[in-house]
Amino acid sequence: MKLFAAILLSMASVASAFPAFEKLTVEQLDRARQMLDERQVLPNPIAPILGGNMTVTVGKKVIPDAAHPFKAPSATAQRGPCPGLNLMANYGYLDREGITNFEELVYGQQEVMGWGLDLSTFLAALAVAVDGNPVNQKVSIGGPDERVGTIPLLGDGTLPGGILKHNTYEIDSSLTRDDVAIGNNKVLNTTLWQDIWDVADEMNGGQLNGKVMSVVREKRYEASVRDNPQFAFAPIGVLFFFADQFLYNTMPTALDNGEPGPATRETISPFYGAKRTGERTWEYVPEHLPEGWVRRARPLSIPEAVLAGIDTVTAAASKGQLPVGITKEDLTSPQGVVCAVKSIAIGQVPAAVVGLQGMEMLLSSINSIGAPC
Ligand SMILES: *[C@@H]1O[C@H](CO)[C@@H](O)[C@H](O)[C@H]1NC(C)=O
Ligand SMILES: *[C@@H]1O[C@H](CO)[C@@H](O)[C@H](O)[C@H]1NC(C)=O
Repeated sequence: MKLFAAILLSMASVASAFPAFEKLTVEQLDRARQMLDERQVLPNPIAPILGGNMTVTVGKKVIPDAAHPFKAPSATAQRGPCPGLNLMANYGYLDREGITNFEELVYGQQEVMGWGLDLSTFLAALAVAVDGNPVNQKVSIGGPDERVGTIPLLGDGTLPGGILKHNTYEIDSSLTRDDVAIGNNKVLNTTLWQDIWDVADEMNGGQLNGKVMSVVREKRYEASVRDNPQFAFAPIGVLFFFADQFLYNTMPTALDNGEPGPATRETISPFYGAKRTGERTWEYVPEHLPEGWVRRARPLSIPEAVLAGIDTVTAAASKGQLPVGITKEDLTSPQGVVCAVKSIAIGQVPAAVVGLQGMEMLLSSINSIGAPC
């Protein structure tokens, strides 16, 4: 974990560039967003070399490179509900069999998705902690698998559940998968996929943005309430609101200036394995990248990811669309949202997985948003 010590030092200077807000109000939120837009504040470190052949390239990059050709998953490969994980395994940035580990996840998310070390570490640690084997740090991106090994401390021979395990990483009301109680939570539901584009067509000329995602999220919540008698919006559901924004801040091919380009269905569909078969019909194929895809240059940090999703969280909270165990007061202000993210980081990401310095890096990154909790 020497890696994190160096990063922490480099972050100390950038983090203090954010104004020390007493409490994060809507005005201060706008100001923080503006600073991100103007690139005045970039708390988005990367870890260029993690060891072995896991080298993260800095800046804009055409993905995949020659060392990572697409191969459809083998019959024994694990694949699951998360399109990004499936995609990274289809190119061998993660183990092609879908049995990955903490370091490889931290690497893959930086190299393929263009996410910062902070965001990549957070999501990797969460996956290993809730669905994997915290002892050897392996996790299956699909269901339980002997190749992940049993957890010795438990001694009962139970295998970790993998990303497919319900109400951990995989929860109800996701954008493109059915709730497990009423359908298939593993594969793309092409009707739900078309629904997203119907909202985009109606609201924003066929492109995704934060307002479109907010409406889609609300519709998904309402559908779960209506159709799924066992609907439970787990506390970790707070993270959905931020993950939804990846559709337009991560997946579009980057422009010449390295920023994500227009969030059109042509550039985003392959990520989800959505292959067009007609005017409004799609077929689910293995997740892949559009030809000549260019990854964004500036790593997407936790602060940028959180600032992108705050409005959708507060809008949903004001309508009472809340994850269980979280009260309305917790989420209707920007301050409350940041604090909820922080409490998930502290509660769900054990130092045993990220190390104390990794934990410090995560908290320092969340704190740099400027909301004391
Ligand atoms: C690193 O190289 C080994 C051996 O060639 C390969 O099996 C593995 O998939 C590679 N890992 C990544 C993340 O590219
Ligand atoms: C996809 O979702 C729609 C809308 O919720 C549902 O009616 C349909 O049964 C689902 N299709 C499949 C194949 O699960």
